[in-house]
Amino acid sequence: MNVGLKTQILPATEAAVASAARCLAQGGLVAFPTETVYGLGTDAANARAIARLYEAKGRPSFNPLIAHIGDIGAGMRIARFNAMATKLAEAFWPGPLTLVLPRTNDCAVADLATAGLDTIAIRVPAHRIARAILRAFGGPVVAPSANLSGHVSPTSAAHVQSDLMGRIDLIVDGGAVAVGVESTIVGCFDAPMLLRPGGLPRGEIERVLGRPLARPAEDAGNEAGQPLAPGMLASHYAPRTQVRLNAGNVETNEALLAFGPEPVPGMEAAAAVMNLSSRGDLAEAAANLFGYLRALDTQGARAIAVMPVPHHGLGEAINDRLRRAAMGRDQKSARRQIGPRDLG
Ligand code: TXA
Ligand code: MG
Repeated sequence: MNVGLKTQILPATEAAVASAARCLAQGGLVAFPTETVYGLGTDAANARAIARLYEAKGRPSFNPLIAHIGDIGAGMRIARFNAMATKLAEAFWPGPLTLVLPRTNDCAVADLATAGLDTIAIRVPAHRIARAILRAFGGPVVAPSANLSGHVSPTSAAHVQSDLMGRIDLIVDGGAVAVGVESTIVGCFDAPMLLRPGGLPRGEIERVLGRPLARPAEDAGNEAGQPLAPGMLASHYAPRTQVRLNAGNVETNEALLAFGPEPVPGMEAAAAVMNLSSRGDLAEAAANLFGYLRALDTQGARAIAVMPVPHHGLGEAINDRLRRAAMGRDQKSARRQIGPRDLG
């Protein structure tokens, strides 16, 4: 384990961007803000650095990483774009969309980062600091969310600190992120597939494609038995406290994760109450989701009761993450994959 490293924390200045690029070039591990969540970046071409990254996160090594690039041109050097992929990239990059595409023959990204798959996940992040770091470094940067494996994704530098202090080299603190859930992942296969709902609502993608996105068949995976998007592992986003979904009331010693303006019975006696968006705004709810789950997880409550959140737009990604949180950490070892029909 990398515990015992000296982790530097720098405010997101030009000097920090230069330090981050230098650190990446030396095989270092750098946490930086993207518009979705904080990423833990390292040089995508450096297999040793990637091995350190998996170790720092405590992540199962079969879980492939997203390569972050500065623009479509850089993407075309590592992945083969079909017409659909080009259309989506032009419509939504930079932004919270990840495309899964075949690797190019001379793709510089280490096999370890793609877990031996012949496809690669890539995206152009929209955050000013992420873009500056990518520009200064000059190559693809693989970056999973900057949390310990199994924890919720970090939406502030403080979250990164609490998970990864002493395990990584540098944290660039760019404040709270704007989107709050991870990127939407689309597999650009013969039939375009929604591999993970996320910060870009499905409807916007379908409008540009002019066709619906398929969901992977239950138990879908490649020949090696790897899940198509292992982020779909059931308990990927689990707080330690039990989570009770679609709560219409608050029971004894529960904390409440509320949504919308309406009070619920028992709320006055809740161990703690946080409202994802009291005006019922899904974008605001997405931005608050992981931070509030983390905060309620520290209250010592018996469970976190979660009020229903609508399923449309960003609600699809929010409900997906809530469902995973509710699967519980004890079921983690089972590594059951959530099937598409479970995602509702
Ligand atoms: O918003 C985001 O996407 C954030 C920021 C940092 O960019 N990153 C992120 O990375 O969420 P991570 O590693 O936590 O999730 C990446 C997901 C995983 O579910 C992984 O299995 C999937 O992408 N993935 C990566 N490569 C893939 C591939 N070739 N085929 C299918 N799924 C892939
Ligand atoms: Mg993650």
